[in-house]
Amino acid sequence: MSVTQQQVLDTLAKVASPRGTALTDANVLSAISVADGKVFLSINVDAAEARAWESVRAQAESAVRAIPGVTTAMIALTAERKAGVGSPPPHRHAHAQGHAPGVAPVASHRPPQSPGGSPMARQAEIPGVAAVIAVASGKGGVGKSTTAINLALGLRDLGLRVGLLDADIYGPSVPRLTGIHEKPALNDDRKMIPIERFGLAIMSIGFLVEEDTAMIWRGPMVMSAITQMLRDVAWGTLDVLVVDMPPGTGDAQLTLAQNVPLKGAVIISTPQDLSLIDARRGLAMFKKVNVPVLGIVENMSYFQCPHCGTRSDIFGHGGARHEAERLGVPFLGEIPLHMSIRVTSDAGTPVVASEPDGPHAAIYRAIGAKVRDQLKDAIAAA
Ligand SMILES: Nc1ncnc2c1ncn2[C@@H]1O[C@H](COP(=O)(O)OP(=O)(O)O)[C@@H](O)[C@H]1O
Ligand SMILES: [Mg+2]
Repeated sequence: MSVTQQQVLDTLAKVASPRGTALTDANVLSAISVADGKVFLSINVDAAEARAWESVRAQAESAVRAIPGVTTAMIALTAERKAGVGSPPPHRHAHAQGHAPGVAPVASHRPPQSPGGSPMARQAEIPGVAAVIAVASGKGGVGKSTTAINLALGLRDLGLRVGLLDADIYGPSVPRLTGIHEKPALNDDRKMIPIERFGLAIMSIGFLVEEDTAMIWRGPMVMSAITQMLRDVAWGTLDVLVVDMPPGTGDAQLTLAQNVPLKGAVIISTPQDLSLIDARRGLAMFKKVNVPVLGIVENMSYFQCPHCGTRSDIFGHGGARHEAERLGVPFLGEIPLHMSIRVTSDAGTPVVASEPDGPHAAIYRAIGAKVRDQLKDAIAAA
């Protein structure tokens, strides 16, 4: 039985809004995405009203979930702030407390805020997850996703419990990188259970929607979908959650950097000047929202011939290292442009998992070790 938009609308029409009208007449709904039993939409309200709307969001979500044929329903509340980007929108708060009636919030054995008044303290952390880190790039195609998954695997090899969230809602590539095409199941608390693969807990918006659907999502929905992927997923206990961010430094990325409780960011760049300019923008963005930059990785740093192993610096290798030095941020390492990195990525068997004793795995592990060292306090405190 396939669910239609009209069915969703009819259901939402029975939910009352705080404005005294039906939800569908309150002029707050985003476009409704219905595909394959999966329903996504957002309720967009002014930040000042967000609290009053949280229970409406929860009601609407349970009503939609009850439609026969609906397998997943994500309704997000997005609050648009009229002025600037000073503090996080109150909907985060409302959401954190907004569990469905009768469902106890998951108890956290961690302090709700990081000690020492870190800049991230204003964002609710994710229960059970010691450190969330972003893998970011100023533009697409520089190998952000490839690095994110292999870095996650490198951290795993260091004995850490690691998760991977593909938050690149415009072009989720984790299904391709992992070969995962199944849909996450829901637990008793109606949280999505991440898919386990290669010893990682993995979640991607690509598991829920087709890539084409993901492309048409508007700005506020991007943020709300990602917030739900962070909070409505049963991540379990993790030392590090690696987030593959959408590329670029626009508003969506800035909001994301600001709203996700990040302990740090890893910036991926190629050695070329143009990519470095973008990387610099990325650095500036994280600085603006007080997220520490854990360092820069130079991807496609030099070409390594798959046959003879000879190395050639086709992009003028070393640019990112100089840039890191100039900007005073750590340089985390150089990854060669190598056929086997691409081939394993495309085959859904990332190189660190499929060639654990090879030279590339060693490079990713070394980068992982530098990242881990900077997260030691957060991981130890957990
Ligand atoms: N170090 C590398 N060596 C060879 N191919 C790579 C390397 N890094 C990435 N690639 C390939 O480049 C393409 C883009 O990489 P991807 O990780 O999807 O980039 P992004 O996430 O930044 O868009 C993919 O086909 C990937 O397999
Ligand atoms: Mg990608």
